[in-house]
Amino acid sequence: MFTDRITKADLPKMDHEYQELLRHLLAIQADCEIGGPHLYVKDCLEQAPTPIERLIVARTANEEIDHYRKVVGVAAGIDLDLSYLLKRSNMERYVEAFRGQISTWEDYGVFGFLIDRIGKYQMEEYAGGTYQPLDDICPGILQEELGHIEHGREVTAAFAAGTDDERRRVQKAVDYWFPKALDMFGKSESRRSERYIQWGIKRRTNEQARQEYFAEVVPLIEEMGLQVPDPTENRHYF
Ligand SMILES: [Fe+2]
Ligand SMILES: [Fe+2]
Repeated sequence: MFTDRITKADLPKMDHEYQELLRHLLAIQADCEIGGPHLYVKDCLEQAPTPIERLIVARTANEEIDHYRKVVGVAAGIDLDLSYLLKRSNMERYVEAFRGQISTWEDYGVFGFLIDRIGKYQMEEYAGGTYQPLDDICPGILQEELGHIEHGREVTAAFAAGTDDERRRVQKAVDYWFPKALDMFGKSESRRSERYIQWGIKRRTNEQARQEYFAEVVPLIEEMGLQVPDPTENRHYF
């Protein structure tokens, strides 16, 4: 396995495969970062139940835009222009979870609880990796993702502890986002995933990361008294 630390200046000397994998990863990561605000700002900024929560939505969107900017900055260092992602419609997003619109507060909460948590997994994947400029941006992004996840968990738990109607609505949101979250880890049999590990750009295979995620969220869903959806249902990638 490759363990050298690669700086921006070293990159042109690196194997073509390394450079291509890095470009691919940066494009997807930037697309995911900018995808979030496009999902919920339009409807949820207005819908947030309290002024404080409205501020939280605005701050979260601001942080995601900043994550996008950081990833784009790393990409710019290798002459990869990702500004086209700003003009993409939601339906053109790389990952299915970002194709749509979030218009209810329970969906906003569950999105933070389940999908922002994927952002944590992504950062853990790249942190300490061989490409130093990517490693450098991970701790700051990770810290902010933890805030998004916890706020999402609190909103989800409050719905779960609410009226029958609130409980039914939040269960529906969990049923919707859970398979999308599991799919975000990609195919289990992925040659690219193995190459990422070989080059020290990622740590875990898609399947390992998915299993760890599953083991982390199942008890959290159960402790809210909600049903854990069948992990094989409504899935596209296994
Ligand atoms: Fe993010
Ligand atoms: Fe986030």
